[in-house]
Amino acid sequence: MNVPIENGNANGITDHDLVELRHAIENRSGIRFDESRTRFLSARVRQHMSERGMTHPSELLKLVRGSNAEYERLLERVLTQETSFFRYPAMYHALDTRVLPELHAKKFWNNPRTLRIWSAGCSTGEEPYSIALTVLKALELPEAWSIEILATDISRKALDVAERGHYSKRELEAISAEQLQAHFSAAGSDGYRVKPKLRNMINFAQMNLAQMVYMGRFDCIFCMNVLIYFSDELRAALIRRFYEYLEPDGYLFLGHAESVAQAKVDLEPIVIDDSLIYRKASAARAAMQEVL
Ligand SMILES: C[S@@+](CC[C@H](N)C(=O)[O-])C[C@H]1O[C@@H](n2cnc3c(N)ncnc32)[C@H](O)[C@@H]1O
Repeated sequence: MNVPIENGNANGITDHDLVELRHAIENRSGIRFDESRTRFLSARVRQHMSERGMTHPSELLKLVRGSNAEYERLLERVLTQETSFFRYPAMYHALDTRVLPELHAKKFWNNPRTLRIWSAGCSTGEEPYSIALTVLKALELPEAWSIEILATDISRKALDVAERGHYSKRELEAISAEQLQAHFSAAGSDGYRVKPKLRNMINFAQMNLAQMVYMGRFDCIFCMNVLIYFSDELRAALIRRFYEYLEPDGYLFLGHAESVAQAKVDLEPIVIDDSLIYRKASAARAAMQEVL
């Protein structure tokens, strides 16, 4: 039987318990629960304990410290995974009208003509599928390219949804009728499944950004609405890594509330209509700056 957890009684969660749980999560995932998110954490921890039939936070702490599986269970509970197709239309417009045409011109004579894009913190897949749809729309002959979209997230559950590629009509509201027809097939009473051509453009993998490993260079990196959950230091360190992993002239796409300001890297801010994206200095420009 589930035991109700009440505020302030013997079974309640004290500030000290929350600090311990916050540390256990932050030390491994980099995710911070500052003052503004303490209520959220407390509510999720209560829910978790209630569903697991635990009466005291010390039980949870012991389990989380002693077992990876238990830590991951709790982590899944406290992640924020809000996302949607074409979440910021202006960003996809910038990708469509500025970034991809530029890459097309730059790589036109390359053999093979490669395009590598990373969606870091891809949640349930809407972001990488939106990127793939934009690539198919913007490139004249996509089949002449070797395209890889790498989509990573810390959450196994979110990746399972992304890999399944099954979305409801409501979730697909931002998809045009032509794109729906070309890249999705009806599945179930109120849903659609991503067709293999679109699905195969994306490689999904579980990865903790706080323990990032090198995966080669990318033409574009999307890390939207993820860095806001990290400390200033980790955020700056990750932006420096993204900078290293970008090709010269590559682009970084961040969420609206995120900026590269504290990372001190040579990323040029570029405003395109309502969007702000960042371009890595080209090798030639970087060399010029070293001489000067
Ligand atoms: C709010 S969602 C953003 C999804 C998508 N990028 C967007 O903007 O719509 C944040 C995602 O970051 C993931 N995340 C949080 N901490 C992470 C970490 N340390 N490593 C990798 N992914 C993480 C979460 O699981 C979640 O799916």
